[in-house]
Amino acid sequence: MVFDRVDYDYRQGEPVLRQLSFAIHPGEFVAVIGANGSGKSTAAKLTNGLLQPRAGQVRLGPLDTLNRQDLVKIRERAGLVFQNPDDQFITASVLDEVVFGLENLRVPRAEMSRRASAALRAVQMEAYADAAPHQLSGGQKQRAAIAAVIAMQPEILILDEATSMLDPQGRQELIQLLHSLHRQGLTIIHITHHMDEVLAAERVLLLCGGELAYDGPPSELFSNGSAAGQALELPFAARLFQALGLEVPVSADWKETIEQLWAMR
Ligand SMILES: Nc1ncnc2c1ncn2[C@@H]1O[C@H](COP(=O)(O)OP(=O)(O)OP(=O)(O)O)[C@@H](O)[C@H]1O
Ligand SMILES: [Mg+2]
Repeated sequence: MVFDRVDYDYRQGEPVLRQLSFAIHPGEFVAVIGANGSGKSTAAKLTNGLLQPRAGQVRLGPLDTLNRQDLVKIRERAGLVFQNPDDQFITASVLDEVVFGLENLRVPRAEMSRRASAALRAVQMEAYADAAPHQLSGGQKQRAAIAAVIAMQPEILILDEATSMLDPQGRQELIQLLHSLHRQGLTIIHITHHMDEVLAAERVLLLCGGELAYDGPPSELFSNGSAAGQALELPFAARLFQALGLEVPVSADWKETIEQLWAMR
């Protein structure tokens, strides 16, 4: 996916994204961070053509969100999951939710049921296929929303603060699910305010006033003295290293970081 000098505004004269350029390569796991209002959700909506750039282009392979005839294919290939699990449930059961998207793609019946089962299995929600939304926890609703997206067999999953309404355990489970989907080849773009989740990504994009302020590995962003990282709350593992006056070889897993510390004694 390529953002090529993208400008966006909701009101003329009030730019929200300015000349935003980056490329996400197949198989990457990218975290996107930035202050409230920095343009993260706007960028997320531009990825699948929910919004279209005022200038520049958003491309997915040969497809361009500015081409109306490309939009169906783009939405098949780039799936979005939003923050509030309640807002995304439109049908009466988990299975219906997954099937609904496939009906829109006109997937044949037999294929539909095969894909729906596989998607529910991938998010460990097979046992809840007939459950109604009100019978589910927030984390289960998010997993159902992800199942509905992955049943469409997308290449990219874009999550806009999909973990923010979940408790620590629900969050942890969702991150594990993202990693398992990533290992199976899905490209992941994870927008989050949780710095600990950023360490789990291979690459971080930091948005600042609609511009790209950092693009690189999380370890560098959080390492001692990084200018872009100054304004950020450091992840637990990075704070631990700083408190000990050490360089920050932070790993995605703070337990692993502590093990590294032990090994250094
Ligand atoms: N529908 C809209 N109409 C007008 N302005 C909007 C709209 N949506 C967002 N904005 C404005 O665009 C800017 C970027 O908003 P956006 O939601 O993309 O930020 P964000 O980085 O996702 O913030 P947050 O961390 O709070 O979710 C903000 O100034 C916001 O007020
Ligand atoms: Mg947002």
